[in-house]
Amino acid sequence: MKTLESEVPFFELAQSVRAMRRIKPDPVPIEMIWKVLNTGVHAPSGQNLQPWKFLLICEREQKKWFAKRYALAMESRFGLPVDPRKRGDAEPTGVARSVYYQMDHLADAPYLLLVCGKRDWPFKVPLEDRVGLAPPNYGAVYPCVQNILLACRALGLGAALTTMHQVFEDELHAHFEIPDTYGVVVSIPIGYPVGNFGSVTRIPAEEKTFIDRWGEKA
Ligand SMILES: Cc1cc2nc3c(=O)[nH]c(=O)nc-3n(C[C@H](O)[C@H](O)[C@H](O)COP(=O)(O)O)c2cc1C
Repeated sequence: MKTLESEVPFFELAQSVRAMRRIKPDPVPIEMIWKVLNTGVHAPSGQNLQPWKFLLICEREQKKWFAKRYALAMESRFGLPVDPRKRGDAEPTGVARSVYYQMDHLADAPYLLLVCGKRDWPFKVPLEDRVGLAPPNYGAVYPCVQNILLACRALGLGAALTTMHQVFEDELHAHFEIPDTYGVVVSIPIGYPVGNFGSVTRIPAEEKTFIDRWGEKA
């Protein structure tokens, strides 16, 4: 088994976490996943309520069930054909290549992690307006998700945050018997990456920051 420690210095690690959509089918020891998830649960949450739950999908048939619906969702929302013959002759490049790869190989990733959040009304919603299902506690779940992505990177595992399951979330709840008290916030295929971790493209903080007054650049 690979080491459960990180050899990557923190700043290099945090600045090279990116969507690794191309995942090898090679098995990953479950100890690595426990390390990843236990890093996730160290995230902060309001009142330390820790409103996350994980559904770790390992069975191939279940991953295939998810992958089929995921691909159909990508087709319906982004017009990315499920059938490779309808994708045109040009080889996809860049992000399109990795997005198609993920669609086509989702069931091959050793793990598919669903991060669920307990539903909870935000403080600002008045009691009388609280009708229907509350949204999942996104504010708490996303720090947990980011910890998971950092831990995957630290262990040399590829992971990609996806949210397209929202398109078939009702079906997802019924199929995996996820109670209505939780929402599925993200789905993350995890495994050894096909490509390398490189630098990510981001706008520098100096360009995103105002000092003392909105509009006042540093
Ligand atoms: C809230 C959120 C939703 C996202 N949803 C998806 C998604 O459904 N599918 C996907 O492939 N990537 C998704 N991503 C990943 C982003 O596309 C990715 O982080 C961004 O394009 C930057 O790419 P990079 O991390 O490779 O630099 C999502 C990221 C966030 C934060």
